[in-house]
Amino acid sequence: MERIDGNQISAEIITELKQEVSALEGARPCVVFIRVGEDPASVSYVKKKDKVAREIGIDSRLNAVPESITQDELFALIDGFNEDPGVSGILIQSPLPSHLDELAAFRRVKPEKDVDGFHTVNLGMLCQEDEAGFVACTPAGIMELLQRSGVKLSGKHVVVLGRSLIVGKPVALLALQKKNWANATVTVCHSRTPDIAEVTRRADVLIAAIGKPGFVSGDMIKPGAVVVDVGINRIPDSSRKSGYRLTGDVDFDSVAEHASKITPVPGGVGPMTVAMLMKNTVKAFRLQQNTK
Ligand code: GUN
Repeated sequence: MERIDGNQISAEIITELKQEVSALEGARPCVVFIRVGEDPASVSYVKKKDKVAREIGIDSRLNAVPESITQDELFALIDGFNEDPGVSGILIQSPLPSHLDELAAFRRVKPEKDVDGFHTVNLGMLCQEDEAGFVACTPAGIMELLQRSGVKLSGKHVVVLGRSLIVGKPVALLALQKKNWANATVTVCHSRTPDIAEVTRRADVLIAAIGKPGFVSGDMIKPGAVVVDVGINRIPDSSRKSGYRLTGDVDFDSVAEHASKITPVPGGVGPMTVAMLMKNTVKAFRLQQNTK
């Protein structure tokens, strides 16, 4: 069994981006983060994204706004960044508090600055296999991780657990694309799928993104399958300084007995999401430079 090292592969991408950004003349790419409230996971994710942006030479602006912000105030904030020529990309950290309409916020970001790839236009472009659009960072990171680990999807059965906008749906569309690096047969399972284990046992590549700690066990795996664990679940753990530990959707030890390759949590998909956000920000910057 081989452990797919997301830290190492994301570091390679970050090195490539550093070189690309240092070769840019004049203005620098700039990403804006909008974080509403103090959700501990969101605080930590945005901090990490901000740190990596700076490391690459991308300007980063963090907007931490109070939980009490109204939808109209949030829209006004987004509109300001949409119109600011110094801003290449805008990211609204999900989840938003329940009084806010998250989808409406995602749609308020100009498609050209939607480095998260959640706008209707970018999801439509993904469906149309138009590479000018932005692909959501976690799905794009999963594809990059598989490609750089030598996993070929063509003709394979890819099973996705979960149908979220952030991971399940876009990753299924990517694996399905008529491209050399994709061309998979894709099955998507969700909460109303009757016998999930029967489906996962037929997966050559299993992508678990359901947010249930340890859901996937060894008896659900076809021998030799590749397993991608997208879950980042915080489990209370008093023996840790932070008071929690991170666990994926996959029961690593039992699955590792059957899988040929597996991504760990942490250190698998997580760092890839951050790297792909930076890639999207540089892409947004270039697109905007070309249209000036
Ligand atoms: N929350 C969890 N993953 C993501 C992501 O990729 N983008 C945003 N904006 N929020 C998230």
